Amino acid sequence: MGVRSPLSASGPRGAAVLVLLLLLLGRVALCSAVEEKKVCQGTNNKLTQLGHVEDHFTSLQRMYNNCEVVLSNLEITYVEHNRDLTFLKTIQEVAGYVLIALNMVDVIPLENLQIIRGNVLYDNSFALAVLSNYHMNKTQGLRELPMKRLSEILNGGVKISNNPKLCNMDTVLWNDIIDTSRKPLTVLDFASNLSSCPKCHPNCTEDHCWGAGEQNCQTLTKVICAQQCSGRCRGKVPSDCCHNQCAAGCTGPRESDCLACRKFRDDATCKDTCPPLVLYNPTTYQMDVNPEGKYSFGATCVRECPHNYVVTDHGSCVRSCNTDTYEVEENGVRKCKKCDGLCSKVCNGIGIGELKGILSINATNIDSFKNCTKINGDVSILPVAFLGDAFTKTLPLDPKKLDVFRTVKEISGFLLIQAWPDNATDLYAFENLEIIRGRTKQHGQYSLAVVNLKIQSLGLRSLKEISDGDIAIMKNKNLCYADTMNWRSLFATQSQKTKIIQNRNKNDCSKSVCFPAFAKAHNEMEE
Ligand SMILES: *[C@@H]1O[C@H](CO)[C@@H](O)[C@H](O)[C@H]1NC(C)=O
Ligand SMILES: *[C@@H]1O[C@H](CO)[C@@H](O)[C@H](O)[C@H]1NC(C)=O
Ligand SMILES: *[C@@H]1O[C@H](CO)[C@@H](O)[C@H](O)[C@H]1NC(C)=O
Ligand SMILES: *[C@@H]1O[C@H](CO)[C@@H](O)[C@H](O)[C@H]1NC(C)=O
Ligand SMILES: *[C@@H]1O[C@H](CO)[C@@H](O)[C@H](O)[C@H]1NC(C)=O
Ligand SMILES: *[C@@H]1O[C@H](CO)[C@@H](O)[C@H](O)[C@H]1NC(C)=O
Repeated sequence: MGVRSPLSASGPRGAAVLVLLLLLLGRVALCSAVEEKKVCQGTNNKLTQLGHVEDHFTSLQRMYNNCEVVLSNLEITYVEHNRDLTFLKTIQEVAGYVLIALNMVDVIPLENLQIIRGNVLYDNSFALAVLSNYHMNKTQGLRELPMKRLSEILNGGVKISNNPKLCNMDTVLWNDIIDTSRKPLTVLDFASNLSSCPKCHPNCTEDHCWGAGEQNCQTLTKVICAQQCSGRCRGKVPSDCCHNQCAAGCTGPRESDCLACRKFRDDATCKDTCPPLVLYNPTTYQMDVNPEGKYSFGATCVRECPHNYVVTDHGSCVRSCNTDTYEVEENGVRKCKKCDGLCSKVCNGIGIGELKGILSINATNIDSFKNCTKINGDVSILPVAFLGDAFTKTLPLDPKKLDVFRTVKEISGFLLIQAWPDNATDLYAFENLEIIRGRTKQHGQYSLAVVNLKIQSLGLRSLKEISDGDIAIMKNKNLCYADTMNWRSLFATQSQKTKIIQNRNKNDCSKSVCFPAFAKAHNEMEE
């Protein structure tokens, strides 16, 4: 069974995936009725603010609305005082870290968050960081963080610092949550005026709570356990021990009674590994396909990798193949295969490998794109490329060097062009580009953005598909006809949108002869 709603799918696309799910359910009739959890990508922005505070909040909402499992980090930052964060209540699991910083909002209701895996740590140490959530004048700030179900942090420590209004972090027994055997770094500075904070409800165990009221009592699932238990428990007696595959806690003794899983969840059962895709057959001395086999996707076992993910040799769903493998489609499944010399050249784009954290293609890094046919990651060309930058000792980019992109057929992330040679009439260097997969998107939204250029047409003659993400073509004052093209024919999902504004005035366009922006086949001829 496929994951029901990959990434931030919503609206028609969500519906389409649901229909697909129903078809799959029909096919695998024995499949249990347990629902796949809704996943979202999460972010890796740390303290960076994306655009205006408004835009920043909108991306937050778009990313986490309806999300149950965050595949990377949950970052809640720059939320203003009056914002409504109830959409965060759906989140149950975070695979990376949770960062809550620089917010002025009163309450962050992560009420259903049960487990932080800490596969990635903030500042190399923290699975949970709650930092500086207050307004300068100290009249506003985070007061309540009622994470009443949080009972497991598998890896990493906790840092709570500089939150003058925040209550009840001192009444939480953190040692019941973190893995003390790994001695994670834990920094707890409870700066608030504790005497003005609510007391724990008298019924809470040993005065441990996340806030006022019986509903905010902390449920202890480790320190109270009988000695016989190997991990978590739901009470003090030996028969209350959870199965050792459980994380967070349980409702009974079996591996199907866990609140969350330590390793993998296969339908309702926690397992050490997902059911293998092939099994050794001792009579034929061959590996046979296992009809029960599943792929691992984060901490879940799935029958098929979700849309826009590829399968590795090891049977897991990943967002891009390793550099020594290439992507192929076999029986309708996209897979990573080892190259044997004949492989087309796959290169890291912006955001991947040595180009992680780099903002733009520039004179220093453009040579790494020589002979590339496929770029794993993003391509961003920003004004700084042509200006150069003394601080990072980056020379101005010679426009002729853009020719390296002529070999590129595929970009797995997004293509963003905000600067281009003034005398170029189109995006000539990308004339062989066939597919933009949009697995990563600018601001979590755009897979193709062309802004502020002097080009007259796009010239993306070979472009056949934009698999995911919206397009933005804006403020190109000489550009004609971008809005009359049949973008939908390039889109792979129903929910993709176009934003084509402030380009050349339509009336001026019809007066002069413009080049068609695409090859004819993509044009919707005007009546
Ligand atoms: C503090 O800042 C907030 C937001 O700017 C404002 O609404 C409030 O009136 C300020 N309070 C004081 C005491 O300055
Ligand atoms: C702390 O809060 C109490 C009750 O609201 C108040 O009486 C006291 O003055 C406050 N102390 C400080 C240092 O702000
Ligand atoms: C504490 O819990 C018990 C039963 O669990 C309930 O009867 C009692 O009313 C609770 N006490 C308070 C103060 O609510
Ligand atoms: C240019 O690229 C190099 C290498 O990727 C990087 O170290 C440098 O910071 C970049 N400069 C600018 C201004 O982006
Ligand atoms: C690019 O390909 C050409 C022709 O195959 C080859 O001569 C050249 O060495 C390659 N350059 C790089 C950097 O791979
Ligand atoms: C743009 O100008 C440069 C020199 O400034 C020249 O070398 C190049 O050929 C021109 N390109 C086009 C497409 O006219």
